[in-house]
Amino acid sequence: MQQARLRILVVNGPNLDLLGSREPAVYGDETLETIASRLSALAPDLGCDVEFFQANGEGQLIDALHRAPAAFDGVVLNPGALGHYSYALRDAVSAIGLPVFEVHLTNVFAREPFRRRLVVAPVAAGVIMGVGSVGYELAVRGLLARLGPGRRAR
Ligand code: DQA
Repeated sequence: MQQARLRILVVNGPNLDLLGSREPAVYGDETLETIASRLSALAPDLGCDVEFFQANGEGQLIDALHRAPAAFDGVVLNPGALGHYSYALRDAVSAIGLPVFEVHLTNVFAREPFRRRLVVAPVAAGVIMGVGSVGYELAVRGLLARLGPGRRAR
């Protein structure tokens, strides 16, 4: 019998909708749409389905995480700046019981001091940073390795 493909939700937080035009020297010139299309094209080869969600509001991101267990096996999350201070987002990540891989395009430890504090990361299953947009693909691969072939987390 054919195993169901694992379903991964890729969540992007505040200001990531501006990728492409936002500080290209820091974040590169790819748009979020380009990153999402590339990941969608790769997903069948990786053996999963991916869906994307972006919001600028903390509550919208938390609501998306709350909905995730009903439809997904794991989450890739770039929390943007919320990753540095949102205990509410951290609590949502630990509440949902799905493995969450945190992604940052940049190496936040090599930037301003306020970015060196990560409050969501301690409850994430893994963290990938500093490799640009390829980090999303690596996070999906990390999630799939953690979930195992066709295995649901719950
Ligand atoms: C970011 C890093 C954060 O510090 C910043 O606030 C972002 C993007 C990254 O992907 O490198 O919005 O999460």
